[in-house]
Amino acid sequence: MATISMRQLKKKYGAVVAIPDLSLEVKDGEFLILVGPSGCGKSTLLRMLAGLESVTGGDIAIDDEVVNDQMPRQRDIAMVFQSYALYPHMTVGQNMGFSLKLDKCSKAEIKERVAAAADILALTPLLERKPAQLSGGQRQRVAMGRAIVRDPKVFLFDEPLSNLDAKLRVQMRAEIKSLHRRLKTTIVYVTHDQVEAMTMADRIVVMSAGHIEQVGTPLDLYDRPMSRFVAEFLGSPSMNMLTGELIGTSGAMALKLDDGSTIALPHAATGMTPGTKVTMGIRPEHLSLATGDGPGFEVEVDVTEPTGSDTLLIGGVAGCAITCEISGRPKVAPGQKVRLAIDEAHLHFFEQESGRRIEAADLALAG
Ligand SMILES: Nc1ncnc2c1ncn2[C@@H]1O[C@H](COP(=O)(O)OP(=O)(O)O)[C@@H](O)[C@H]1O
Ligand SMILES: [Mg+2]
Repeated sequence: MATISMRQLKKKYGAVVAIPDLSLEVKDGEFLILVGPSGCGKSTLLRMLAGLESVTGGDIAIDDEVVNDQMPRQRDIAMVFQSYALYPHMTVGQNMGFSLKLDKCSKAEIKERVAAAADILALTPLLERKPAQLSGGQRQRVAMGRAIVRDPKVFLFDEPLSNLDAKLRVQMRAEIKSLHRRLKTTIVYVTHDQVEAMTMADRIVVMSAGHIEQVGTPLDLYDRPMSRFVAEFLGSPSMNMLTGELIGTSGAMALKLDDGSTIALPHAATGMTPGTKVTMGIRPEHLSLATGDGPGFEVEVDVTEPTGSDTLLIGGVAGCAITCEISGRPKVAPGQKVRLAIDEAHLHFFEQESGRRIEAADLALAG
């Protein structure tokens, strides 16, 4: 168990600034997920925590002790990589016990700790096999087993499920989560997959270009993204974005789209400034086929995608792509024009230029 503090961390690779200035606190026993597009600095951050990469500036503290100058082995951290890096000539048991052997543990102790880890990961029947005789999921479990035997203060995972097929990924997600519930060890887990982040994390850190966009619980970030970047990164299909200008008076606002049409917003934009250029976001599940004449807009449906339980209607309005997720199987055909109703309680507004969230007045939030 451990807390981790990153204070004004910087990392340069020659002239490339991978991390300009990053501060973050990881709580004791927390499952923290770093998520962001490829190249945003996730692995760099993780490798600095592990001690595999030097820091250019700032401090890393584990349980309040600054570890910048400690070697990886001294930090009591175990890291699981995307490429499992198992030794092919060793059995599962030998792979799992190898780091203990390097630490000069007794044979009896190694055997006991490997057996305990194998039990947790359901690897006991496989202890005598070589990695080549294992499936991808089993290899991934051995890689985790190697981390668990050391009973470290912190686990670091770098995209551990990327090499697995979709079904196995779902299964391993559940296994890693249940492992965390049992061991309660602090975990920092890196992924570029927002579904992994949403389903596994206690808190998510969304990164972009070496800096933190937002930190929060999965549902905090989903319900109240502080930037357009976070709004579009989390959720699938992703949030619809309509660009336009707020018009009217602060009490009776509308969004004027780029084609000149308008969407009346009787409540959601109350208190915002007329003339503001905004991007209005609405998630696919917060659009529905209009039955009355509440706020909404008309789209021409290009494609319908039945998923079984739901149907996606995909079309466009004023040059913006729109996806609407409707439960069941509505009778809508491609080419048809439909009016979509907006759930005003779930609208998001972002400044067009900066991408930053604009809050509606308290009045609107309460309504
Ligand atoms: N060893 C290295 N030498 C030079 N540049 C690197 C090195 N490792 C990473 N980078 C650069 O640092 C940035 C962050 O990379 P990385 O941490 O691997 O991103 P992620 O894991 O989020 O995909 C990228 O621009 C990448 O090209
Ligand atoms: Mg990476």
